[in-house]
Amino acid sequence: MIILGIETSCDETALCILEVKDTADGRISYRILEHLISSQAQIHSEYGGVFPMLAKREHAKNIVPMLETLISSSAVANITENISQDQNSQNKVEAIQYLEKNEPSLLEAFDRSTAGLRKIKIDRIAITVGPGLEPALWVGVNFAKALGILWNTPIVPINHMEGHIVGSFIENDEPSAEFYNLKKIPETSLALLISGGHTELVKVTTNNHTSDQHYSHTLLGSTRDDALGEAYDKVARMLGLPYPGGPQVSALANKYRESHTDTSTGDATDTHNLKFPRPMIDSKDYDFSFAGLKTSVLYYLRSQMKRDPYAPQKMRHDVFEVAEDTKELICYEFEEAITDVIITKTKAAITATGAKSLIVGGGVIANNYLRKKLAALADDFSIPILLPSKTVSGDNALMIALAGALMPENKTVNKINFDQIKVSGHLAFV
Ligand code: KG4
Ligand code: ZN
Repeated sequence: MIILGIETSCDETALCILEVKDTADGRISYRILEHLISSQAQIHSEYGGVFPMLAKREHAKNIVPMLETLISSSAVANITENISQDQNSQNKVEAIQYLEKNEPSLLEAFDRSTAGLRKIKIDRIAITVGPGLEPALWVGVNFAKALGILWNTPIVPINHMEGHIVGSFIENDEPSAEFYNLKKIPETSLALLISGGHTELVKVTTNNHTSDQHYSHTLLGSTRDDALGEAYDKVARMLGLPYPGGPQVSALANKYRESHTDTSTGDATDTHNLKFPRPMIDSKDYDFSFAGLKTSVLYYLRSQMKRDPYAPQKMRHDVFEVAEDTKELICYEFEEAITDVIITKTKAAITATGAKSLIVGGGVIANNYLRKKLAALADDFSIPILLPSKTVSGDNALMIALAGALMPENKTVNKINFDQIKVSGHLAFV
């Protein structure tokens, strides 16, 4: 089966062509034909976060040109076929009418696209329908529908967080001619999802890792306020670091860790007395809360530092002038606090569910320190940890294509029912 994956839920526009097949020994193997990601992070950087209407505009500008790149890439060109004008004209008229009514921003580029002349021989289009920023999600969904109408291809709607789960089943994320096996997961796993919009612990159950057997999810707990990535981004902003702040905060925390570790014993040598709270660490549930921690950082900065007079006007109120070594200490202590909470809750959830593997997904798992700590936790339980590669830990269409490939046939939607496909900014696991 060949799938086109499309992702536009936040600030990455991404397309992927993935092929999957069942192997003789009951596994699923895959190969990536092409995988494109266009990040808008730099554009949003001056706002200190993602600005939804700007995200929508960028997706609309980029998505059709990215489809052109995809169609003309050599691996994909091999699986295209010409469409005769007769065959195509009715579909094209319908697709154009659909865009005129629903997404005029895509109209002109779509009308000129070679997609009207050459079709990629795909079996399904997998599209993220939520959770995420609704204006951004709609661009991808309307694009998917127009393409589905044009090529007469069914669509499979995908939950973005499910994408982050299955992204961890991939070992090799490079386009290649060869097939690789998907990582196998046991019947019961625990998934920890940590991204810019979500922090969730989910029990994942499957009987068999085959394409007609889908996973079921039970949400055990989630954040009551800020998501983990959001907390990183907000702390970064207070320290005058650009968006997305996670990698920056984590790099400074590492610098502190490295300069305050006894290299011969590996023990921490820091003697500071800065201590941020570990919110909800002792609560007997699987929920998280990071807003209080962020506020503690803010109060500490307010009590100790001056506001940065050079910060952009709209953020000046909460951006502080902080010496480099103090920044490192704050980032370190912040990261220690969130790590303690994440490890404690994940440990409790593994114990309670009897999970036989730990799956971690979401943009924050690009973080080396958390990767190491979570790997050590899984090791303590003698269970495997499934982590996405660094390239697929952030938002991408590979994970969406794979989630689409693993969906049973009855979850696909044919052209006549496309109007049933809607986006939902707060889509939950069903
Ligand atoms: O999954 P993702 O790409 O987008 C959403 O679905 O939200 O996650 C983005 C989040 C941002 O908050 C970003 O700061 C955070 O992931 N992030 C990190 C690191 N790399 C990205 N947080 C901590 N450490 C990192 N190395
Ligand atoms: Zn994400």
